Amino acid sequence: QRQLAESLHIVNEFAQEYFSHTLFETEEGQAVGLSYFQERGFSEDIIRKFQLGYNPDKRDAFARAALKKGYSIEYLQKTGLVVTRNGEPADNYRGRVIFPVHNQTGKVIGFGARILKSNDRAPKYINTPENQLYVKSKLLYGTYFARQAISQADECLLVEGYTDVISLHQAGIENVVASGGTSLTPDQLRLIKKYTGNLTILYDGDAAGVKAALRGLDLALEEGLNVQLALIPDKEDPDSYVRRIGAGAFRDFIRTHKKDFIFFKLEVSLEEAGNDPKRKSELVNQLAETISRINKTEHFTLQQDYIRQCSEILKIDEQGLVSLVNKHLRERL
Ligand code: GTP
Ligand code: MN
Ligand code: MN
Ligand code: MN
Ligand code: MN
Repeated sequence: QRQLAESLHIVNEFAQEYFSHTLFETEEGQAVGLSYFQERGFSEDIIRKFQLGYNPDKRDAFARAALKKGYSIEYLQKTGLVVTRNGEPADNYRGRVIFPVHNQTGKVIGFGARILKSNDRAPKYINTPENQLYVKSKLLYGTYFARQAISQADECLLVEGYTDVISLHQAGIENVVASGGTSLTPDQLRLIKKYTGNLTILYDGDAAGVKAALRGLDLALEEGLNVQLALIPDKEDPDSYVRRIGAGAFRDFIRTHKKDFIFFKLEVSLEEAGNDPKRKSELVNQLAETISRINKTEHFTLQQDYIRQCSEILKIDEQGLVSLVNKHLRERL
């Protein structure tokens, strides 16, 4: 098991070096891959830091180089770098720019491969399939590059995508990791908790972004994380937004817009409920459930603060909310 993971890692290292080399040292890599990154505003330093690369737009250029080097077809397929097309080995990421994914100690464990021009026929990103080395539910993109800054700032910013992480780094904001747009798993929350207890989610302001942000957050409370949320303005993501307004204004935006997750959730549901008394009582019930998930021994005062502030916002009796919270606690015992 361990040996298999180590073999996959060796294949990935070879691939990462091949893709980097192709990007910087070949004509096609420079003309296509490097210009793509440059047009997106990535500096050469940042491209090298994140070890970005390019897979030639040929049927099997990478596959042949790897086989010639003696890597077995079995491992090449397990890493997702090579697939079988018409019975022959072929490159899975051909004609795509490459974002290596590193584990916490800086080893390359997988890749994201982006198509140059989005279209409806092919997926925008192809990611490494689950294998002994690449376990998506346990990793967050950028952890290796961010962990020191996260500890220092005592805050972890969470974004959706590879390019959000990279652009924020380039802007000097380094305490940032990406989830790949899916909701957080318990393992990912624990990974964050190794470095900080404060999580700030920066997702797209579109409906999908809000939904993704809200999902799984009860879990974060149970893990004892303090979760704040700032939604990026419509049609933008952290990558485009920081490039448009600059690092200073981006920091200001986070500072002035981040809101406690519970109040955010409350606002969204209040808007949905409108004046319907039945929906409002459902909402109060759900809120009580969320608050009941705050780890009571660790965060007793926090829970009390929430109860007080939420009952004010909702104009309901504080003691009523307390008993509702306790009811949910008892139900889970
Ligand atoms: P750019 O378009 O290059 O700026 O990427 P993005 O990060 O802004 O993409 P988007 O917001 O659409 O998606 C966020 C993240 O979801 C990406 O970084 C990927 O990790 C993942 N993702 C996006 N599209 C796909 C896809 O087609 N397939 C898979 N498997 N993942 C995707
Ligand atoms: Mn390397
Ligand atoms: Mn989106
Ligand atoms: Mn983007
Ligand atoms: Mn995006």
